[in-house]
Amino acid sequence: MKILDFLVLLGLHSAAAVIHSLKYIFTVSSQVPNFPEFVAVAMVDDVQISHYDSITKKAEPKQDWMNRVTEDDPHYWEGHTAICLGYHQLFKGYIETFKHCFNQTGGVHILQWVVGCDWNDETGEFNGFRQVGYDGEDFLSWDVKTNTWIARKQQAVITKNNWNNDKERLALYKYSITQEFPDLLKKLLKYGKSSLMRTELPSVSLLQKTPSSPVSCFATGFYPDRAEIFWRKDGEELHEDVELGEILPNHDGSFQMNVDLNLSLVTPEDWRRYECVFQLSCVNDDIITKLDKTAIQTNWSKTGFPLGAVVGPVVVLLLLVVGITGYFLWKKNNNGFQPANTSDTL
Ligand SMILES: *[C@@H]1O[C@H](CO)[C@@H](O)[C@H](O)[C@H]1NC(C)=O
Ligand SMILES: *[C@@H]1O[C@H](CO)[C@@H](O)[C@H](O)[C@H]1NC(C)=O
Ligand SMILES: *[C@@H]1O[C@H](CO)[C@@H](O)[C@H](O)[C@H]1NC(C)=O
Repeated sequence: MKILDFLVLLGLHSAAAVIHSLKYIFTVSSQVPNFPEFVAVAMVDDVQISHYDSITKKAEPKQDWMNRVTEDDPHYWEGHTAICLGYHQLFKGYIETFKHCFNQTGGVHILQWVVGCDWNDETGEFNGFRQVGYDGEDFLSWDVKTNTWIARKQQAVITKNNWNNDKERLALYKYSITQEFPDLLKKLLKYGKSSLMRTELPSVSLLQKTPSSPVSCFATGFYPDRAEIFWRKDGEELHEDVELGEILPNHDGSFQMNVDLNLSLVTPEDWRRYECVFQLSCVNDDIITKLDKTAIQTNWSKTGFPLGAVVGPVVVLLLLVVGITGYFLWKKNNNGFQPANTSDTL
């Protein structure tokens, strides 16, 4: 468990102590039709800040406040574009190498390279990581403490040995994780402070698809993505007959989540004993929604089911660059990464 999660559980987490992160996600694909061969996405605190792909060949800001980077570095975007051009070719070469490792000759293949750092703004502790995924699975990771690559698959051993013998490159890794990444992250947090550290409460509604479906308590529009939602009966949190959804991004940068309650064994008189609770981390006021038949939005009565509210996230997910979506899928498959280390030299 991450220390932050642990503190949240204990209720000791204060608004001041937050772990910030800077992360670059590079996705290179071979033979994927109608999709850029190379996509680079940068994120601060899991908010996308820039985008580059091999079709536009231009690094561009994804947040208004990112335009401020040129205050300190007038050539930031040209520099970022040049780096991406270089990485595209570098990673294309790696795909060929990895194909050999698996005796593959052609077909669709995807390589993902994630590099970045976490910073605890209370203890000042930095942690770097660098992960390589191939065809949706962990392939190699870099360990910050030993400054070495670790093979996550048998087929990665030869590459791992080659990369660990490149002492010059490992020295650059060390430099970038201890110098470049921390400096850049702090600078970006300064520019984006009012946006990244804001809190927004969601609107919460009760939705039901059919008269026998579970009742979904749906919260949308909150920020940041550290929140909890649950059902209570007589003031006690329910763990049975509930299904908790994942936190999903909305297209406007806010988040949504839901928790469903199966009421098939509950008599109508007992409904009033239930309520849905939404809690945003760092905010003390809970949003409490009592289970009330008249408050439920449906599509079989006149009130009109807000289909958009439920279809929305699916569409948003599809619209997200495959780089990010693929990364989330990969991350989910692997239950998160082992911390490793980072660099501008990847
Ligand atoms: C690749 O092919 C070689 C020679 O045919 C074989 O020895 C090796 O085990 C194969 N590797 C994999 C990952 O299938
Ligand atoms: C709700 O609970 C009932 C009774 O336990 C069960 O038969 C039904 O499948 C559940 N519905 C859903 C959607 O989980
Ligand atoms: C209500 O919407 C859900 C989901 O779109 C659908 O499965 C269901 O059939 C609809 N119910 C009616 C009565 O139209």
